[in-house]
Amino acid sequence: MSASIVVGGQWGDEGKAKIVDYLASQMDMVVRYQGGANAGHTVVANGEKFVFHLIPSGILYPKTECIIGNGVVFEPDAFLKEIEMIESRGIATKGRVFISSRAHVIMPYHKLLDGIQEKASNERIGTTKRGIGPAYADKAARTGVRIIDLINENALREKINMILPEKNLLLTHYGDKPLKADDIIAAYVAYGQQLKPYIEDVLFRINAAVRGNKRVLLEGAQGTSLDIDFGTYPYVTSSNPISAGACTGSGVPPNGIGEIVGAFKAYITRVGGGPMPTRLAKDEEAALREAGDEFGATTGRPRGCGWFDGVQARFSAIVNGFTTIALTKIDVLSDFDRVRICTGYRVGGKVIDNFPVDSEDLYRAEPVYEDMPGWKTDITKARSFNDLPPHAREYVRRLEAVIGVKIGIVSVGPDREAILLR
Ligand code: GDP
Ligand code: IMO
Ligand code: MG
Repeated sequence: MSASIVVGGQWGDEGKAKIVDYLASQMDMVVRYQGGANAGHTVVANGEKFVFHLIPSGILYPKTECIIGNGVVFEPDAFLKEIEMIESRGIATKGRVFISSRAHVIMPYHKLLDGIQEKASNERIGTTKRGIGPAYADKAARTGVRIIDLINENALREKINMILPEKNLLLTHYGDKPLKADDIIAAYVAYGQQLKPYIEDVLFRINAAVRGNKRVLLEGAQGTSLDIDFGTYPYVTSSNPISAGACTGSGVPPNGIGEIVGAFKAYITRVGGGPMPTRLAKDEEAALREAGDEFGATTGRPRGCGWFDGVQARFSAIVNGFTTIALTKIDVLSDFDRVRICTGYRVGGKVIDNFPVDSEDLYRAEPVYEDMPGWKTDITKARSFNDLPPHAREYVRRLEAVIGVKIGIVSVGPDREAILLR
């Protein structure tokens, strides 16, 4: 058997967790492969709402193993709080949550520097201030602390003593107080003891499951246009949310991958800095934001909202190789008289239909829209494609043609049951 992937097709918050939770009822294992606690993944099950930041969204199924892969940057405190939250709501986590010993650890200086550097640049990127960028930078610079170091005090001490002087130079440069090595070592040795039961070189567990015909789902965080290589650089996150990132972030080889599910909202949102060609003007944006309750699950920030961007989506389909698409939040569009799909950008007098490399071109891009009639009917009770009103079905079919990939799943509400298969 082969592993499936759920990837964010847009700028994050596409409803990935809702789709992962839906698919996870059939899964033996769900693996997070990149990002960290910058993610906010919402699942609504039996009227109860859960927001996960680090723990895979399959955790609500008692037999599903949940794994934090090597590609994740791991924040111990956020993880321990999340375990506590989940346990306090009656869900057992013992023996079925594992953390890769290869994953990198978010250290106190990462979070501090993320915050300070954002402030110094007037919140240019608009990061979540979870220390994500600085932690991945240390990973690439080979000065990162890995999970395995937390259970080896001598190794940890050696690393911190090597790294900290440079971090303190930076902190004091920005007017912050220097950190003390002994405080950090004591705190992270203590985390190591608490985390010990979860730590494993999970690569073997994951690949044994894939080869042993178990059903494995690799859960992406963020989205394609936030990818460090293929997103709207520099307004991106510091990892590879795209499908290829699922291999490097979990250790499943490319020939172990089967389905690649792209999660797309029926419109588009973005939170933080950076261009977004179909972003609406203030009043129209406010209406869509309210209809979709578009406020960040991690930071509470209002999300920028706009019509579905077909140019962005086609690009996304190319870099991810989607085998199917899960379309979410189409119910949010039910009150609009007409719905729009962007099929091209007008840049400097020319219409283009390829997603430009330069963020400056994206800032200047004027969307070219195709309009379709709205359906003006509550569709949240629809459970099969034929339950949808004709105009809603036409919208789905048109999106499918614009993206060039079959839409296999349509979500019509936040609840687990509000979903239909085609
Ligand atoms: P993720 O980061 O991609 O997992 O998405 P988020 O959880 O950040 O944001 C998606 C939001 O939309 C959450 O509040 C979900 O409960 C909600 N949601 C998911 N699917 C649907 C849907 O089909 N309709 C509506 N109305 N809400 C949905
Ligand atoms: P989920 O998994 C939406 C955005 C931030 C910022 C940029 C860089 O819930 O879809 P970072 O803290 O990662 O260095 O911030 O990326 N961002 C997200 N936007 N959904 C997310 O996660 C995001 N995680 C990061 O707003 O623009
Ligand atoms: Mg989210």
